Amino acid sequence: MGRDNLRPLSLKEYIGQKEIKKSLQVYLSAALTREEALDHVLLTGYPGLGKTTLAHIIAHELGSKIHITSGAALERPGDLAAILTSLEERDVLFIDEIHRLPAPVEEILYPAMEDFLLDLVVGKGPGARILRLTLPKFTLVGATTRSGLISAPLRDRFGISFKLEFYTEDELKDIVQRTASILEIPIDEEGARVIARSSRGTPRVANRLLRRVRDFAEVQGYKIINAKVATYALELMAIDTLGLGPFDRNLLRTIMEKFDGGPVGLETLATALCEDPRTLEDVYEPYLIRCGLLRRTKRGRMLTKRAYQYLGLKRSL
Ligand code: ADE
Repeated sequence: MGRDNLRPLSLKEYIGQKEIKKSLQVYLSAALTREEALDHVLLTGYPGLGKTTLAHIIAHELGSKIHITSGAALERPGDLAAILTSLEERDVLFIDEIHRLPAPVEEILYPAMEDFLLDLVVGKGPGARILRLTLPKFTLVGATTRSGLISAPLRDRFGISFKLEFYTEDELKDIVQRTASILEIPIDEEGARVIARSSRGTPRVANRLLRRVRDFAEVQGYKIINAKVATYALELMAIDTLGLGPFDRNLLRTIMEKFDGGPVGLETLATALCEDPRTLEDVYEPYLIRCGLLRRTKRGRMLTKRAYQYLGLKRSL
């Protein structure tokens, strides 16, 4: 039987982000030895790099319970107060997309983070009173795609801050092999490497591609995913060796053909592509920038010389 949950539970099982692992190990050991709650942790990184996985690992390594919510789900101060009052000593509260917290909610988070205090307004009008509750010492793990999106007062209240980076090809190859072994998918090292190379530096993409390649291999009757099978499956999905798919190529081609190679503003580009500007910014652009195909300038997005070379080579796809 394959294990359904692919998330590594311990730091030891977690592949990549070496520097973060090294520091986190120290902070976790220190907190555990002192029998204290770990300081609040801010995780920054593009989607799919493992922020949620790390939050789970932090809770697991501390032997604590994790409570999961997201900035968009906490619409009113009462929503956050309900969660805060349900916490137990040394629990982990994970707030994904913490940059989306509404300001009034963010404000009650400040004393909760700093002094473990919650001020509740009871009643309305002149008779309203403030009821001050003491909260158990908990650890807030906040996640955001870019640290610049959160306010300085919030950012300053995190004692620990990590920025997750894109993964190397070797790390992604190891992740593909690990996932394949949990899901009992036969794959050799070169097959895993081909998938890793097309995974945009992102474990989430690597695991998704692995499942699609497995579908292909099963339907075609291949017993094992080797380099040839993986390459063929990725070609069918129109994913190239850089990991770029049809949408990426359409994005680059749109800048070239409709905007003379740029600069073009994000909103205009998003309209031309019928895509949400935030998705463009957080999901598609970072990897294109990392590949040296796109530049963000003050006047807008621009293609690089390399992008023209790439499009020239890929025009047939
Ligand atoms: N699955 C997804 N991301 C992973 C990682 N960083 N290490 C191990 N397995 C993973």
